[in-house]
Amino acid sequence: MSKIIRVAIDGPSGAGKSTIAKAVGKKLGLDYIDTGAMYRAVGYKTLTTSIDPDDAAAMQQMLDSTEIDFSKGDIILDGEIVNDKIRTNEMSMMASRVSAIPAVREKLVELQRKMGQTKSIIMDGRDIGTNVLTDAEFKFFMTASAEERADRRYKELIEKGQDVSYETVLDDIIKRDHNDMTRKLNPLKKADDAIELDTTGMSIEEVTDFIFKEVTK
Ligand code: DC
Repeated sequence: MSKIIRVAIDGPSGAGKSTIAKAVGKKLGLDYIDTGAMYRAVGYKTLTTSIDPDDAAAMQQMLDSTEIDFSKGDIILDGEIVNDKIRTNEMSMMASRVSAIPAVREKLVELQRKMGQTKSIIMDGRDIGTNVLTDAEFKFFMTASAEERADRRYKELIEKGQDVSYETVLDDIIKRDHNDMTRKLNPLKKADDAIELDTTGMSIEEVTDFIFKEVTK
């Protein structure tokens, strides 16, 4: 592929965006950028360095000395691979919380835009089509019922050996949907020019195929 193409995938927690974005990226040779992982990394650092997210000055100072990057599919926070550390239920809630802080969004959105300037990418998140890459060549908005999303995430967490109940996961998904859709800054919203896809009852292959066909048609 000679021309740079950017594919934006937005949608609520647990809609399967990252699984699909990874698969489509592999098929099309696009670098996958998981922007949720970037918010999780900031949430992780906030928690592990005991910074109060409401302390704007402390948050800004922390952000100024924070480096986030991707390398071969790993997320690197200040030189450390944090893939597993950021995938707990606690970090999901923390990510949702810090993602409402203007300084956090400013820093991460700038980084994300830079990542989309030099190479073809597939990026997933909440505000990619509406804010980060408004001129992306392809935009998708993936949804699924809260119950199905909770079921998928619950199974994922149990497989990783985490001790959670389905009710807690569903409850957290509903809370996160609310946080993500009602925050003032760049809330989760379908871009007017995005293709909407409800994946309830669809398999990973079916969704991957749908997006692959749209991008290559
Ligand atoms: O996709 P995820 O569950 O890993 O995202 C974690 C949190 O980060 C989610 O609750 C909302 C936030 N987020 C965001 O505000 N904007 C993005 N582009 C990606 C994620």
